[in-house]
Amino acid sequence: MSEYTAPIPGLDAAEIAEPGAVTVVVPTFNESANIRRLLRLITESVPARLPCEVVFVDDSTDDTPEVIRAAARDCPFPVAVLHRAEPVGGLGGAVVAGLKAATSQWIVIMDGDCQHPPSLIPELVATGEQANAALVVASRYIEGGSRAGLAGGYRVAVSRGATWLTKALFPRRLHGISDPMSGFFAIRRSAVSADELKPLGYKILLELAVRSRPGRVAEVPFVFQDRFAGESKSTAQEGFRFLRHLAGLRTTSPAARMAGFGLIGASGFVPNLAGLWALTVLGMGYLPAEILANQLGVAWNFLLIEQLLFRDRRAHRRWWDRLGRFALLANADLVLRIPLIALLVGRFGMGALPATALALVMTFVLRFVGTEALVYLP
Ligand code: GDD
Ligand code: MN
Repeated sequence: MSEYTAPIPGLDAAEIAEPGAVTVVVPTFNESANIRRLLRLITESVPARLPCEVVFVDDSTDDTPEVIRAAARDCPFPVAVLHRAEPVGGLGGAVVAGLKAATSQWIVIMDGDCQHPPSLIPELVATGEQANAALVVASRYIEGGSRAGLAGGYRVAVSRGATWLTKALFPRRLHGISDPMSGFFAIRRSAVSADELKPLGYKILLELAVRSRPGRVAEVPFVFQDRFAGESKSTAQEGFRFLRHLAGLRTTSPAARMAGFGLIGASGFVPNLAGLWALTVLGMGYLPAEILANQLGVAWNFLLIEQLLFRDRRAHRRWWDRLGRFALLANADLVLRIPLIALLVGRFGMGALPATALALVMTFVLRFVGTEALVYLP
């Protein structure tokens, strides 16, 4: 993808730190007031025996890149700015671009607003070496860590809920990671499968832990600091992105996708029944009302599967082509079901109830397979 292969202005191949060293990747979005302090703290933290380079991956609309280049002149280590013309994937996309540009054996990911203490960089790397780990997470949720800088009870509650839900969805992949929401961690470059990653928003550690499966994990406690300058860039929209990210990660296998398809289909009863109720109240006859209301359920299902299940398989067809095919399959399902039940009862002597249940299951599987093959495959 083109946004990942942009040249890195200022990164001279001859200056790149040797293996065994650390590349610090910092995503930035309008952080000009934090840069000098961050670079000073990194300078003070990283001992001379740990060769280091810093790569900023910047999507700013302000003068952050210029501020970085100016501040870099006072740094004893190489500093590069990768400014993305096309900021795909948000924070996570920026981090993946940084992972691809990083050259050292260890890569530390940290925020640009000084909420992650740079004094921990050497400890993260040393812990990884000692424990022979591939991933070292700076955690707020182990002894010695805290989320002091998470402003407000609301954000604490959201963070707790999100952590619980995420751990429940990926018990195996997140084993040993108490803080999968952390944006501060060290990972061995050899453990990153950058081409497999599909980052979407803030939770890049989750993405790496689930898709790259880095193997042995260690943790180091840390105190989430107050933001030095400016405000968090997270929004309510970021919350929805997170849910889409979770859904995408959880439905990589066909079986999980089929389960998701079923859940979304079941949720379609809500708009369907609401529409049926509204139309009959307005005086429409039952049959035309049911046919119309069913289209409401179809539209609802289409929106949800597009966002949650087939997000990265939409490019093969235009949206109206996909909607048309999806609606056709959904309505074929309705038309097929009645003769199928009649067949099961009449020819195979089944009772009406098991025949209906079996017909529902059969048409559901057909609809799922049809949707995969006819709507979302090239
Ligand atoms: N390049 C780029 N593109 N950087 C971004 C973007 C983006 O779209 N959005 C945010 N950033 C940068 C910010 O400039 C900052 O350096 C860092 O990513 C973190 O963004 P904040 O907006 O400060 O995040 P936060 O403090 O709300 O959340 C942090 O803590 C959470 C834990 O509570 C992040 O580390 C989250 O990943 C973490 O889950
Ligand atoms: Mn922050």
